[in-house]
Amino acid sequence: MPSSVVAQEIRSLRERLDNWNYQYYVLDQPTVPDAEYDRAMRRLVELETSHPELLRKDSPSQRVGAAPLDRFRQVTHEVPMLSLDNAFDEQDMQDFYRRLRDRLGGQQVEVEFACEPKLDGIAVSLIYRDGVLERAATRGDGTTGEDITHNVRTIPSVPLRLRGSAYPGVLEVRGEIYMPRSGFEQLNARARELGEKSFVNPRNAAAGSLRQLDAKITARRPLEMCCYGVGLVADGELPGQHASVLDCLQRWGLRINSESRVVRGIEACDDYYRDLAARRDTLPYDIDGIVFKVNDLSLQRELGFVSRAPRWAIARKFPAQEEMTRLLDVEFQVGRTGAITPVARLEPVFVGGVTVSNATLHNSDEIERLGVRIGDTVIVRRAGDVIPQVVSVVADQRPADARRIEFPGSCPVCGSPVERADTEAVVRCMGGLVCQAQQKAAIRHFASRRAMDIEGLGDKLVEQLVDEGLVHNVAELYRLTKAQLLGLERMGEKSADKLLAALEKSRHTTLPRFIYALGIREVGEATALALARHFGNWENLAAATEEQLLGVSDVGPVVADHLRQFFDSPSSMAVVTELRAAGVSWADLVVAQDLPLAGETWVVTGKLEQLGRDDARAHLQALGAKVAGSVSAKTTCVVAGPGAGSKLGKARELEIPVIDEEAFLSLLAGHGQTL
Ligand code: IVH
Repeated sequence: MPSSVVAQEIRSLRERLDNWNYQYYVLDQPTVPDAEYDRAMRRLVELETSHPELLRKDSPSQRVGAAPLDRFRQVTHEVPMLSLDNAFDEQDMQDFYRRLRDRLGGQQVEVEFACEPKLDGIAVSLIYRDGVLERAATRGDGTTGEDITHNVRTIPSVPLRLRGSAYPGVLEVRGEIYMPRSGFEQLNARARELGEKSFVNPRNAAAGSLRQLDAKITARRPLEMCCYGVGLVADGELPGQHASVLDCLQRWGLRINSESRVVRGIEACDDYYRDLAARRDTLPYDIDGIVFKVNDLSLQRELGFVSRAPRWAIARKFPAQEEMTRLLDVEFQVGRTGAITPVARLEPVFVGGVTVSNATLHNSDEIERLGVRIGDTVIVRRAGDVIPQVVSVVADQRPADARRIEFPGSCPVCGSPVERADTEAVVRCMGGLVCQAQQKAAIRHFASRRAMDIEGLGDKLVEQLVDEGLVHNVAELYRLTKAQLLGLERMGEKSADKLLAALEKSRHTTLPRFIYALGIREVGEATALALARHFGNWENLAAATEEQLLGVSDVGPVVADHLRQFFDSPSSMAVVTELRAAGVSWADLVVAQDLPLAGETWVVTGKLEQLGRDDARAHLQALGAKVAGSVSAKTTCVVAGPGAGSKLGKARELEIPVIDEEAFLSLLAGHGQTL
């Protein structure tokens, strides 16, 4: 092939790949199937390998450089990277606004602000010269940072070359590199599987990923960049408003935050703060506050800086998600399956918006990993609705009388022996249903909304029923009489009638709910559904051999073993017989092998506009597919909507088919699913 033809093809491949990346990472709108993207990338690499003279640093194929560095080079920020003053409440915001208006003298109109989430990541500066990424550096002390170009080049949302041509000759872009929560969870899950050290939070994971000398490691980490401003600008002009500058950055291929808004006046800033604070836990990334910036750049210049922070901006912080407190004691709770969980009793501390006095310590391995002792000062994290966790120990504050945490040698509730299986981190009470803690937990689970849904049978009542010896197992619930209930403390006639009615109603259930309600180890809702679909009725399920159980898409050797143990246990099966004798019943199911997507595993990710993810899942399950939460080699197909992140990346990596919502809807229609 003549080299001009090759050069032309290379140019066109690069342009197409850059466009697709832009649509995917910056606009959040994937346009081409992954297979198409991969084909173009393979072709580009092939041509560049056979024509090395045509290779360029800004080619989309050149994200991972060759040899690891031996150290980070220091760089100087020509325009210093400043920090922000903080506000903690509305009063601080009012004070900020008053200072601002006083300085601006006499201007009575409300000031316009650009409002942006304050991403909790690592501040980074990118320098583009003639549109090509030349250098990426950390903030460091604001004047001197570290050169991390080799690592930043591996981040797909950082363009190696800017789009269009209207950008300044020298453009320094500033922003935050962070790890989305889903990527963080996956990274930690993998680290734990491999017995490696996990990261404390997404911010630490992002920092650790950028601090690698070998860019190949960074390339495997799910990092993203979001831009929030500019530094040095030469040979060109930018618009006069902050928000318009961000729009330019987006046009040039850089990612900006889709939650950014321009508002007028400080009250509108408070509204924005409240709205985002309420949605904080639903965002795919951690934020620790909101940044408010005077939108007009000439006003920014007029206001200037005090020491290391601008007068024209402020960060309103959210309540912290991590705080320090003292570990007062450790108690041991016994769960449904006998698992004994150490629970930290803490000196009450306000964290993540609530007062926390308990946190989970998971298991003995976790206690060992943390190296924590009673009396230690610890860091507690509470993010969203996740149960509070002890994430680390402040080593230099250990008191002389700190005590080691001793795991109990017998069950703290029933005194039965405890055991730790070789393969598990968990210590279990071997008392089974003799143990009152396990009885209570089993009944709570049986009654829960997604199991038998027995309204009115709350934790307190379960506690009373077991403590009074009225109920020892779930079947005995259906033998309760009104007289027995009325004998309980604080139980009125009305509540007793209500509970009996709820029990009556719960007798008519479905097979998947019934299986799930039994609380067999490792059998969650999805597995219960798969089992019900596969076997169609209880008799076939209970009679299934280990091998037959392994034929169910959701069932591996561990689950099959737990199931067989349950079916082989005379006491467990006696409870099932008793439940059925008490009138618990359900309709049998169409066996899954006959369903069109039987044996397939699907993943749904990103935002689905018409259907919603829960509905999408329900439709897939109705067609016999298993719906998984993460992509693996076993995944049959991924349904990806806008905003899909690491799952989509993983699917691409594994060459798993990906379809958009439209294709998915027509597939459902093709199988007669009405929406
Ligand atoms: S503006 C002069 N905007 O917060 C203004 N900063 O203490 C400099 N940050 O180190 C920063 N999100 O890493 C700005 N939307 C945002 C931000 C943001 C996160 C970080 C940034 C900086 C720190 C300020």
